[in-house]
Amino acid sequence: QLGLETDTLGRNVYFEETVTSTQKIAHRLAYEGAVEGTVVVAEEQTSGRGRLDRSWYSPKHTGIWMSIILRPSIPPSRAPQLTLLTAVAVVQAIQEVTGLEPDIKWPNDILLQQKKVVGILTELQAETERINSVIIGIGINVNQERIHFPEELSSIATSLRLEKGEPVDRAKLIQCILLKIEKLYKEYMQHGFKIVKLLWESYSTSIGKHIVARTLTGSIEGKAIGITDEGVLLIEDLTGKIHQIYSADIEIPQE
Ligand code: BTN
Repeated sequence: QLGLETDTLGRNVYFEETVTSTQKIAHRLAYEGAVEGTVVVAEEQTSGRGRLDRSWYSPKHTGIWMSIILRPSIPPSRAPQLTLLTAVAVVQAIQEVTGLEPDIKWPNDILLQQKKVVGILTELQAETERINSVIIGIGINVNQERIHFPEELSSIATSLRLEKGEPVDRAKLIQCILLKIEKLYKEYMQHGFKIVKLLWESYSTSIGKHIVARTLTGSIEGKAIGITDEGVLLIEDLTGKIHQIYSADIEIPQE
């Protein structure tokens, strides 16, 4: 149906019309033993989930709402690397299919003209030291027109169609994303995080800039100097102290 050229990713695809959340379905399938590479795609989500317990607006027939099940043999502490890997793959696929050049904002937002076009949500099923499965959720605003976005999103979100000026073939984009993820994932499982890290840093807008990170416990301001091998963001504050940021919202104040 998708004309896939992948080996494992998407060999098992569940196409759904309306679901609560593809994450929820993928969690259940993973729990029931679904093989690595199983993908759930829906035309519409009635309660799409974002990071930090936010909701994710997922209207009918306009976006890509999809979840992928992976079963890597890595410790749970390395799971954030897979979010970064996915972001790199999605950027590459968007470049290839549309010619647009998106940026990555740490940890998982993909932006065009500083507006969000893709969100990635990585969730684990794990015991203390062992990952059972990783569920990677990808939400892409593909063919929404400006009027499709609710008021509160119109200044912070955009779609590929709006930026390109013409509709984008969703099946082609899904196909390309799965191919890119598969390639990077193979490289990552064989040789580690190095290549993904370099690619991620090259697409990131945050690194090298003065940023404000708002965490649950307060704000940290300083220069983003890089990410660690675990995908943790490093910020050097004005006193030269280096902070490790595991979870935050990043703001890049405009000069
Ligand atoms: C974020 O930026 O906060 C992450 C958004 C992730 C949205 C996707 S859409 C497919 C999958 N199903 C969900 O309910 N969420 C993810």
